[in-house]
Amino acid sequence: MYTFKIIRARHFWFLLSAFIATSAFAGEGMWLPFLLKSLNETEMKSMGMKMNAEDIYSVNQGSLKDAVVHFGGFCTAEVISDQGLILTNHHCGYSSIQSHSTLEKNYLKNGFWAPNHEAEIPNPGLFATFIIRIEDVTDQVLEGVKTDMEVKEKQTLIDANLNLIKSTTTKEQWQDVMIKPFFEANQYYMFVTETYNDVRYVGSPPESIGKFGADTDNWVWPRHTGDFSVFRIYAGPDNRPAAYSPDNKPLIPRHFFPISLDGVAEGDFTLVFGFPGKTNEYLPSYAVDQIANVIDPERIEIRNISLGIMDKHMRSEPDARLAYAVKYAGLANSWKKWIGEAQGLKTYHAVQKKKNLELDFIDELQRKKSLCKEYGEILPSMKRLYKEIEPVVKNRTILSEVIGGSNIELFRLTLYADRLVNAFKQNGEDGFQKMATRTLAQLDDFYKDYRKDVDKEIFVALISHLSVTVSPEYLPAYLAKYKSDDLAEKIYSQSIWIFKEKFAESIQKGGASFSSLVNDDMAFQLFEELKEIMDSDLSPAYNVLNDSIQIQQKSYMAALMAVYPDRRFWPDANNTMRFTYGQVEPYTPRDGVEYKTQTYLDGVMEKYKPGDYEFDVDPRLISLYENKDYGQYGENGKMPVCFIASNHTTGGNSGSPAIDAYGNLIGINFDRVWEGTMSDLFYDKSICRNIMVDVRYILFIIDKFAGAGNLIEEMKLVHPKS
Ligand code: ARG
Ligand code: GLU
Repeated sequence: MYTFKIIRARHFWFLLSAFIATSAFAGEGMWLPFLLKSLNETEMKSMGMKMNAEDIYSVNQGSLKDAVVHFGGFCTAEVISDQGLILTNHHCGYSSIQSHSTLEKNYLKNGFWAPNHEAEIPNPGLFATFIIRIEDVTDQVLEGVKTDMEVKEKQTLIDANLNLIKSTTTKEQWQDVMIKPFFEANQYYMFVTETYNDVRYVGSPPESIGKFGADTDNWVWPRHTGDFSVFRIYAGPDNRPAAYSPDNKPLIPRHFFPISLDGVAEGDFTLVFGFPGKTNEYLPSYAVDQIANVIDPERIEIRNISLGIMDKHMRSEPDARLAYAVKYAGLANSWKKWIGEAQGLKTYHAVQKKKNLELDFIDELQRKKSLCKEYGEILPSMKRLYKEIEPVVKNRTILSEVIGGSNIELFRLTLYADRLVNAFKQNGEDGFQKMATRTLAQLDDFYKDYRKDVDKEIFVALISHLSVTVSPEYLPAYLAKYKSDDLAEKIYSQSIWIFKEKFAESIQKGGASFSSLVNDDMAFQLFEELKEIMDSDLSPAYNVLNDSIQIQQKSYMAALMAVYPDRRFWPDANNTMRFTYGQVEPYTPRDGVEYKTQTYLDGVMEKYKPGDYEFDVDPRLISLYENKDYGQYGENGKMPVCFIASNHTTGGNSGSPAIDAYGNLIGINFDRVWEGTMSDLFYDKSICRNIMVDVRYILFIIDKFAGAGNLIEEMKLVHPKS
């Protein structure tokens, strides 16, 4: 890399542009289905795909996209029968499953399978959204917009254009229209959608299968989790979206996935369809550097502290284990991802590789003089802006982790109080009462799992951490007055928050007396000081700089597209429908180690720890294993469980269908490998892999383990390879 400048001659440029071309090649990218024909079809076929673009995305006939739904707006699911049966992850159905579970009927622990349609359980609030068609509406949205317009004037015009498109688009009356910015708002695409609000819980395996390996195995390959659950979409009598009614009928879909019994082999083509949430693939090197060396390390360190304390209590007190299981899993999921991300960015030299791309970009600009005038200043100003924002970002990251309410739960309570006080200030007693009803309901949930001693220990540790890591100008006066353990002693013995009854009683007293009571409370005062620092110092400073960064980022995106007109670009994930494709491929996580692509039930048994909450195995599964009773789902006497491939996925792709060369379902996506979690910022084909449950394991569990053969009968099982 150091020789770069010396040999920056013409032939080197060829080498580098070959690198740039391949860097957005097979593997990388979350592509838009409606552009598949023009951008991806040829490459996909060269990788082994046997379908045509029209089979995957069509507005004229049923196609694969018609069997893929946005599940509750946070996950993906796929239709697998002509009666609206859908498959998603266990962790996507988790809160529904939990909401139907009681101590007597514990579906999380024991699993559940509805024996017939009548026994399928409604989930108020849960929905499934289909995409009917996608169109590029950039020209209409930007109609009349001039570069020299004021920001406000521009926005007003854009908003008016958006409204006009929405109101004039041809659509059925039960359909919706959504328009979203892409490529940093350099382009706009429209989605016509259909949302079904009657989605019922059909079944799921016990947690010992659906969450096998839990947090220890989370983000890790080799993996042995049967992370799936089954739901069904119901429609009105006309097969259209309808509010829940016992008279609704199972949806007749435009398309459903046949399911392959043939499994995958290394090198096989794979396609993953779904709703990825957010990526930042076009950031400059300075931004990636800041994430790897400032943001990730700060938040990892804070969670090291709080998770360490929770874990200590969870291991020695059964009661704390129950109370903190869900909270721990939530905190640990991002924590573990950030560790993998920061490490991956360093190990794979992401910053240096981005710098090399930037050098080439500058080189190109120098050759294309007209572009140079327009875009020549972007990188230098971004460099300056990122340097300037760094201390703000660092302090803001620490403060928001500490007061956000997930680590120190006391600050969730003070946040509730703050909300109540504000409701009273803004809307008087009426507003206060409305907020009070909402808050009282939340308090039940909160206190059920609240342990004062655990929280106090986390408070002491994190407040001490805050006082030594945050710059003095951003520290509250309180912390100069008290040491963190004295402060904790006072707060956790006196504060009204610690006991539910006290908090609830103070709410009953009405807005005026609640507000004055609260203002005398130390915990509230500390919270308000910290919040004031955030709202009045850090956030305004952050917003000013970040707005400038966003303006530059938008130009940078436009510049990249102008400078490399022949390169294919994919827009960062933004919760809209995308597909990604790759191949079943092994990877080398470190020197001397190669990870295979497939795991088997043997691995579940290797990890088996009787009685352990993460690695226990159900006796029925052990007996199926011992008898090799795999029915038509086994492969050479073994039961496949999970596999990996080089598909570019992110959060939101959970539950996404993994599809073979012919359009059959081969698995469902549920995770990525730890070494490759940097792919949200920098995709490296050598290391980034997504993890899927093998669909044969799903069928085996439904059929052989749960005896829900009625569901198997609805499906269409196929043998594409024979
Ligand atoms: N890592 C996966 C995702 O990001 C799975 C998370 C659920 N599993 C868990 N053990 N917390 O969502
Ligand atoms: N488990 C993630 C989700 O729920 C998917 C894994 C990823 O981030 O790639 O969306």
